[in-house]
Formats: sequence, C-alpha cells, structure tokens
Amino acid sequence: MNPLETTLGKVTGLFTVAIVVIAALLAYFDDPEPVKYNSMAEDMETLEENFRQQNKSCFILGASGETGRRLLQELLERNIFSKITLIGRRQLTLEGQAHENLVQEVVDFEKLDDYAAAFQGHDVGYCCLGTTRAKAGADGFVRVDHDYVLKSAELAKTGGCTQFHLESSRGADKNSNFLYLKVKGQVEADIEALGFDRYAIYRPGVLLVDRQEKRPAEWLARTFFSACSAVGSTSMSVPIQEVAKAMVSNTLLRPEQKTEILENKAIASLGKSAGK
Ligand SMILES: NC(=O)c1ccc[n+]([C@@H]2O[C@H](COP(=O)([O-])OP(=O)(O)OC[C@H]3O[C@@H](n4cnc5c(N)ncnc54)[C@H](OP(=O)(O)O)[C@@H]3O)[C@@H](O)[C@H]2O)c1
Repeated sequence: MNPLETTLGKVTGLFTVAIVVIAALLAYFDDPEPVKYNSMAEDMETLEENFRQQNKSCFILGASGETGRRLLQELLERNIFSKITLIGRRQLTLEGQAHENLVQEVVDFEKLDDYAAAFQGHDVGYCCLGTTRAKAGADGFVRVDHDYVLKSAELAKTGGCTQFHLESSRGADKNSNFLYLKVKGQVEADIEALGFDRYAIYRPGVLLVDRQEKRPAEWLARTFFSACSAVGSTSMSVPIQEVAKAMVSNTLLRPEQKTEILENKAIASLGKSAGK
C-alpha cells in the first residue's frame, strides 16, 4: 500500500468512528414516545377503503415543494380523496399526474381574505409551505412560515375543514431563541388554538432529498445525517418520501389525542411501516 492509500484509509477509518460516536450521542437525545393510536391494529388497506367510501376532499399548500410534490403523488396513488385541491401562488404543470379530481387554485398569499372560497369545503388540509431566511430574509420567513400558514388554516377552518396536517420542524418551540424554531413553534401553537377536530403536527429533522434548488448548508447537513442514519440514528433526519407516506397514513388513523405531534422517529416509523 502506498503512503497516499494508507492516509486515505486512516481518514476513512477516523470518519467512520466519528460518525458512529456522533450517532450514539444523537441516540442519547432520542425522540420521546410516539403517538398512540386507536386504529393501528386494522390493516392499512381496510382503513384506506373505509376512508375512500366517505368521499372526502382535501387541499395541499406547498404542492410545488419537495415534500408537497411527494405528498400529492402519494395521495394520487392511494386514491383516498374524491377531490384534491392544490392551493399555491402559481399554476403547476402536472405531467403524468392528470387526474379528473385534481383542481388548482392560484392565490395571492398577501391577500388571502380575497381567496376565502379556495379554502371552502375541504375536509382535510395539508400544509407543506415554507421558505428560508436565506431566501426571504427574516421578515419574509416569518410572513410565509407563520402568517401565510396561520391565515390559510383560519380560512380552512371557517370553510369547514376539520382535520389539519402541518409539516413543522424538529425542535419547533415558541420560546426558542432561534428564529426558525420559534416561528415554527408559534405557528404550531396558533393553529392549535383554532380548535380543529383533529390536528397533526409533523416535526421532521433534516429532510433527505435530492433537492432541485441549491442550498449548500442543507446539503452539508443532509450528507452528514445520511451517514448517521446509515449507522442507525433515526431521530435527526428522514427520507422525504417517508414524511409524505406518514402524512397520508396518519390521516387514516385515529389518534387518542385531538392534537398529536409526530417527532422525526415517529414519522420515519409510520412512513416505513404503514405506507405501501
Ligand atoms: N428542508 C428541511 O430539511 C426541513 C426540515 C424540517 C422541516 N422543514 C419544513 O418542511 C416544510 C416543507 O419543506 P420543503 O423542503 O418540502 O419545502 P420547499 O421544497 O422549500 O417548498 C416550499 C413550498 O412553499 C412555497 N412557498 C415558498 N415561499 C412562498 C411564498 N413567498 N409564497 C407562496 N408560497 C411559497 C413554495 O412554492 P413555490 O414553488 O411557488 O416557490 C413551495 O410550494 C417547510 O415548512 C420547512 O420549513 C424542512
């Protein structure tokens, strides 16, 4: 073995040891006990069929984003709604997703009251909307991730929606000193106060996805946490398709609580076990 190969071997070995140690540390800060369900024993296909029979409709906010796109795909494949409405700021070209029960509503999020009709008559609402501080600045981030999301939830509730599913973030906490976590926690709490019959909050860690848009910091985090998940740590990151599967499967389940919080580990486990 030449000196370069020896050095490379040592570096790889050290990197692997570092990842294993960090994964063990992360496991120490593991997620709390997952949500308890009344309906987990029934098989998913029976739950889907029962739900389908009820001819319910839903809307998705953020269907053009990474999670929203996969959520839409999952909903179309499992065909549990008689109507799906995509509410967004632009018309989407949905190649290969032509569906007679798929409707698009283009709205101006700065004047949502003018678009109240778009939010009327849905049973279930899914929200995967969000931006970043880097993209929108601090005020813009609050406007999108808090104000747009809360206003949409209010209009949906007024329009008859009974179930709301919010994609939030790991660590969301309205008392946090970090803007991102504070805003996520605040919007979670403000929506809870609206009193939906059922409210599910999803708190994924780093979303594992080949993102179309370039986000260097997120790329670094993804690379790191992908390596951690490969050695068994499941509380800090989750493949994005598992988030989408978990959101759909969870819609069919009956939680013991009116408001439920699914931390990263619970999302991964539901996404793996309950999805097709
Ligand atoms: N990235 C992560 O690792 C991570 C981890 C935990 C939680 N989350 C949270 O999970 C949620 C979904 O994340 P994602 O990565 O799937 O989202 P994404 O790919 O960034 O997509 C965001 C969605 O929000 C819409 N949006 C953004 N700015 C908007 C604006 N000013 N007005 C109207 N719509 C706007 C986008 O519409 P356009 O396509 O029109 O821009 C898109 O549909 C977000 O709330 C995010 O904070 C992300």
